Amino acid sequence: MTGPRDLLGVLACAALLLQASPSAADAQETVKTVCAACHGADGNSTDPRYPKLAGMDQEYLMRQLKAFASGKRREETMSAIVAGIDPNDFSKLAGYYGKLKPAPGKVNDSRLAAKGKALYEDGNTDSGVPACTGCHQSDGQGNARFPRLAGQHQAYTLKQLNDYKSGRRATDPLMTTVGKRLTADEIKAVAEYVAGL
Ligand code: HEC
Ligand code: HEC
Repeated sequence: MTGPRDLLGVLACAALLLQASPSAADAQETVKTVCAACHGADGNSTDPRYPKLAGMDQEYLMRQLKAFASGKRREETMSAIVAGIDPNDFSKLAGYYGKLKPAPGKVNDSRLAAKGKALYEDGNTDSGVPACTGCHQSDGQGNARFPRLAGQHQAYTLKQLNDYKSGRRATDPLMTTVGKRLTADEIKAVAEYVAGL
């Protein structure tokens, strides 16, 4: 008893449903065809210029995608990529990476890392740098408010601290203050230390 008009109706409904809720499969397709090239198939990039995203808090990741979209955080590559993505997919992309297992990083210079450890745990009272542990946790695992730093590539952490310092990354007033107070040597040392957490 199904006439062609009923069938058309069903098809129209299906099309509307698809439009209304871009499926999780779409987000996975984006991950595979776009993001994986830099961030790695499992969210653990091997190129130190690209951050590892695996296991980072999904609220944090989503805030960063929004920040690239609004221009509060600027970086040629990511700003261009985010401009081509439907903001409705941000939460799915963030959720996808948040569930992946983070791979450990590697310390290349243990003397430098030891200097970084002192700063990470005690801060620098002379220049007013707070201990990083206060927010990022002693193991660098982070939480919804304070991002995970553990195992991250040195080059990426270094660039972010310099970007807070210069104001290029204006996503958080606390970290801008921290960045401005850090010296270039302290930034290198702490980036080396967190890579090994
Ligand atoms: C061509 C390389 C490239 C591709 C492709 C790419 N990214 Fe990125 N991504 C980067 C770079 C470089 C950064 C660091 C930006 C900076 O220095 O601020 C970054 C940073 C990020 C961050 C911030 C991480 C943090 O710890 O704050 C998120 C989130 C992110 N990318 C998600 C994505 C998603 C989702 C996709 C796919 C839609 C994607 N990226 C595709 C290069 C890329
Ligand atoms: C008062 C809390 C607080 C303290 C202390 C603090 N941070 Fe942060 N940090 C944050 C917050 C909040 C963010 C996320 C900011 C944003 O959205 O950009 C952040 C972000 C970062 C990022 C960017 C991570 C990424 O994936 O892009 C790095 C790197 C970082 N902090 C390093 C440090 C270091 C090193 C110290 C110690 C010298 C430190 N932080 C001390 C709160 C803090």
